[in-house]
Order: sequence, then structure tokens, then C-alpha cells
Amino acid sequence: EMLEKGGYEHFMLKEIFEQPRSIRDCMRGRMYPELGKVQLGGIKEFANKLKNIDRIIIVACGTSWHAGLVGEYLIEDYARIPVEVEYASEFRYRNPIITEKDVVIAISQSGETADTMAAIEMAKDKGATIFGICNVAGASIPRISDAGVYTHAGPEIGVASTKAFTAQVTVLTLIAFYMAQQRGTLGTAELTELLTALDEIPDKVSLALESNELIKYIATEIKDATNCLFLGRGCGFPVALEGALKLKEISYIHAEGYPAAEMKHGPIALIDEQMPVIFIATKNSSYEKVISNIQEVKARKGIVIAIVTKGDRKVKDMVDYVIEIPDANETFLPLLATIPLQLLSYHIAVMRGCNVDQPRNLAKSVTVE
Ligand code: G6P
Repeated sequence: EMLEKGGYEHFMLKEIFEQPRSIRDCMRGRMYPELGKVQLGGIKEFANKLKNIDRIIIVACGTSWHAGLVGEYLIEDYARIPVEVEYASEFRYRNPIITEKDVVIAISQSGETADTMAAIEMAKDKGATIFGICNVAGASIPRISDAGVYTHAGPEIGVASTKAFTAQVTVLTLIAFYMAQQRGTLGTAELTELLTALDEIPDKVSLALESNELIKYIATEIKDATNCLFLGRGCGFPVALEGALKLKEISYIHAEGYPAAEMKHGPIALIDEQMPVIFIATKNSSYEKVISNIQEVKARKGIVIAIVTKGDRKVKDMVDYVIEIPDANETFLPLLATIPLQLLSYHIAVMRGCNVDQPRNLAKSVTVE
């Protein structure tokens, strides 16, 4: 087993460190920065249909649902198609309005999640076209989908999803660009610029991983917390949700992810000197707004840990701890900001003596309702 873990203490840590490679594998053969072109063989037979669709519905569970939220931001932003993101378990028992003009994107690492499969079957019966985003070749979800894109992250053993999430986000980014290309909402020059930047992401993920020792130190400082809050805006919001999910899954610390601006409608009541608050505070369109949210937390003596863009001084002077990630186009923020949050959860869980790879009560794949 030590051999399978490639010298790492746990599968989860190995899988976190594999991400520069897994993200690269996921992009391989699918994008051509110099041509400003995205090619997705798995959905190309629907290339024309994409020009006329009215709406996309993303269905998923758990971490895959968080990837779906990132997908919503990207597809709406670049391809200008309205997107809804649904928990498969809720969607399947509603009476949703679905037509032949809808595309349903089902996201699943395992490709076997019962609720996601049932949601697909229902949408299929109502005439929607189904795209699957899956990590396991030949799994049930790719088999019942009309088309799809594999994430190619390689087998994920740790129950808490890490590299599969970043691969899902990578695929969704490519799908957003592909749809934009088909619909003419992104030109070749813009695509060249975006794809060139995306091509640099695996190396930037490697740089983000270099904060591991610092993150381990921060983990020692907050490992005894009983509650934890994760806040972000824009694409930083799904990242906050995923950060909170990781922490609760493996360390059993109660954690909540929230849009930073919603803090004042509830979570702010919880903040005191015991409460760690993790902010996604990178330099992007919501930077100044996040800074005012940080001030609100500091005024109530919360312990603030901020994920910031390398070189940021402003946030550093305000908070207790900063973790830097490389500067990048805002579109790719989730791929970078997720990395330190995975490491933070990992170290906290190890320090608390938890079974990181197989947390209590959780299963890698939930094949029953
Ligand atoms: C379980 C796993 C999660 C996963 C979720 C959805 O809860 O523990 O890591 O995100 O199922 O699984 P899927 O295979 O459909 O992505």
C-alpha cells in the first residue's frame, strides 16, 4: 500500500500533489492556444445543437455539485447560456420543466451515484440531451449519457475528492469555452489569450503546493476549533463551499461555506475570538468588497486566514495568516484557490488523529439512495 501511495502518508495527500499532472492530462489534446481553439471529441456530434439550446441544467451531488456551481459562472459568462445547478437528489423528486431544447450536464467522479443516475433518467425521458462529466471510464453515467467528457484524473482513492474536483472544473472551463466558440460569443483572439493562460495553470498549481509547510503551521493554530467559516465571492463562493465540505468531511469540525456578502444575514452572529474564518481574498473583481468583509470579521475578533494573490500587502496587514497563490486570470481562480484549502483540511485532520482517507460514515461512491 505504501507503494501505491507513492511515498505519501495518505492517498489524499498523494492525490492533492498529483494535481499539476491531472489537470494537464485533462487538458491534453483538447485545447490549442496558438489556434484559439477548443476541441471536445466526446460532445462534437452535438456541436450544432449547442448553437440553439435555451438552457443548461447541471445535476450532481457533493463535491461534483460544487464543480457544477463553478461551471454555471463560466458557462453563463462566456457562452451566455442560462445555467441552473441542481442537487440530483432534489431534482429527481421535483416535477422540473425540461424540454428537448435543454442540455443536462451530469457531473460525477465515480459515474455510479444513484441520485445522479436517476436525475439523468428522468431528464432523458423528458427529451433532454445528456452530457456526462465523469472520471471513471465505462462507468454507468457515461453509458447512459448521450455524450460526454472524461476528466482523466486517474483513480481517486481518498474518499474526500480532490484531484477529481479540479479536473471537473478544468473540463467545465473547456466546455464553457467550447460552447462560446460554437455560439460565437468568444473570438479566436480572446480564446488564444484564455487558453494560453489556462495552459499555465498546472505550473501555477505546483507553485501553490509550495505553501504546504506554511499551511501545516497554520493548521496547528486552528486545529482545535469547533466551528469554521469559509467565505468567498464570485467564483470564490463555490471554492468556499468546497473548502468547508473538505474540512467537515475529514476533520469533523463543523464548517460552513457562505457567499461573503451574505455573512451579515446570519453567520456574522457566530464570530468571536474562537472562530477561524477563511477568506478567498485574491485580487479580482470582488477584491475590495471582500476586504470590507474581512474588516467586519476582524472588528469582531475572528481569526482570519486569507488566500491572497502573491505579493498582496493590503490583506496581509489586516489578517492573522495569509496563504499566497500565483496571480492568474479570475476565470481560473477555483483551480488555484482550492489547493491550499485541500491542504489545510488535510493537515488539520491528520493532527486531530482522523482517518483521512476513510472518514467515518462516508463512502467514496453512494450507489444507494
Ligand atoms: C460521495 C463522495 C464525495 C462525492 C459525492 C458525489 O459523497 O464521498 O466525494 O463528491 O459522493 O460522488 P460522484 O462520484 O457522483 O462525484
